[in-house]
Amino acid sequence: MAQLNTQLAGRHYISPLMNASGIHCGLDYMLDELTHSKAATYITKSATLQKRLGNPEPRYYNYKQNSLNSMGLPNEGIDYYLKYVNQDPQTAQRILSITPLTIEDIPLLSKKIDASGYDGLIEINLSCPNILGKPQIGYDFDQMAHYMKVIDQSFYPGSYGVKLPPYFDLVHFDMVAQILNQYPLAFVNSINSVGNALMIHEQQTVIFPKNGHGGLGGATIKPIALANVHAFYQRLNKNIDIIGTGGITNGRDVFEFILCGASMVQLGTVLAQKNLDIFEQIENELHAEMDKYDYKTISEFKGKLQYIQENDAISGASH
Ligand code: DHB
Repeated sequence: MAQLNTQLAGRHYISPLMNASGIHCGLDYMLDELTHSKAATYITKSATLQKRLGNPEPRYYNYKQNSLNSMGLPNEGIDYYLKYVNQDPQTAQRILSITPLTIEDIPLLSKKIDASGYDGLIEINLSCPNILGKPQIGYDFDQMAHYMKVIDQSFYPGSYGVKLPPYFDLVHFDMVAQILNQYPLAFVNSINSVGNALMIHEQQTVIFPKNGHGGLGGATIKPIALANVHAFYQRLNKNIDIIGTGGITNGRDVFEFILCGASMVQLGTVLAQKNLDIFEQIENELHAEMDKYDYKTISEFKGKLQYIQENDAISGASH
C-alpha cells in the first residue's frame, strides 16, 4: 500500500490532508472534531487581535460544488486560538492562522504568539477579500513588500508562511516570488478564494454584504489553484514548501496538486458541504490514484508534472 506521509517545513504529517482556514475551525469543539478525524492536522480560523462578529448575514452560500462567502473574519480573537493550540499535545504540527488588519497589527500579533510559547507554524493571511473597505494586500505589491519586511522583523525564520490570493498573470507570479524569495518563509499557501465573484438566485444576489460580491471557492476554481501552485513551485526557493488549496473534491485532485509541487493540501468548500468523513474518502481515493501510477510515496511524484510535447498533442488531442 502506498504511503501518504509528507513533510511541511521539516515537520512530519501522516497525510497531506487538512482543513482550509475558516472551515470547521472557529471554535474549540470544531478543532476537537478535526483532531479526532482523519485529517493529518488542522489550521485554526484566521485570528485578528480582537474578537470579531464578521459581516451581516446571509454571508455564505453553497451552489453545486462551489461556494460564495463574505464572512468578514468572524473569529474569537488571537488569545482564544493560542490557548487552544498551546494545550494541544501536538502543537508543533498545528498551524495558527492570523490576519493582520493593519501593518501595525503584525508586531502585536507576534508578541502575543511569542509570549504564549507557541512553537507550531503560523499562516499569515495576505489575501482576505472580505473586509469592507480594505484591499487584499496580495494584490498591492508595494504594500506586500512592506508587510513582508515587517513580518520578517516580527517572526522567527522558518516559523511562518503566507496565504496568497490567486494570480492570473505570469509577470505577477514573477513579482510575488521576487518579494517572497527574500525571506525565510516556511511555506506559501496558494490559493485563497477567488475574490469578489457574484452568484445570482432568481433575480437576487445570494449573500448580503458588498452587494453580493464574495470569495468564490469550490471545484470551479481548481484549474486556477493548480496554475498558481505550479507557477510558485517553479519560482520559489526550494526551501519554501507549498500548501495547495482551491477546489479539491477528491483524491485525483490531491494527486494533481502534488504533481504541481504541493507538499500538503487544504479542503475548503468540500469540507463545508460534506462532513469530516471526507478526509478518509479522499485519502482512499489518493491511495487508488497512486496505485494506478505505481507510486509508493508522495515524494516520488511531488513536483513531477510532465509537460506535453508537440508530437504528443497530435496523437492525444481528443482526450
Ligand atoms: C475570510 C475570508 C477569507 O478568504 C480569508 O482569507 C480570511 C477571512 C472571511 O471572510 O472571514
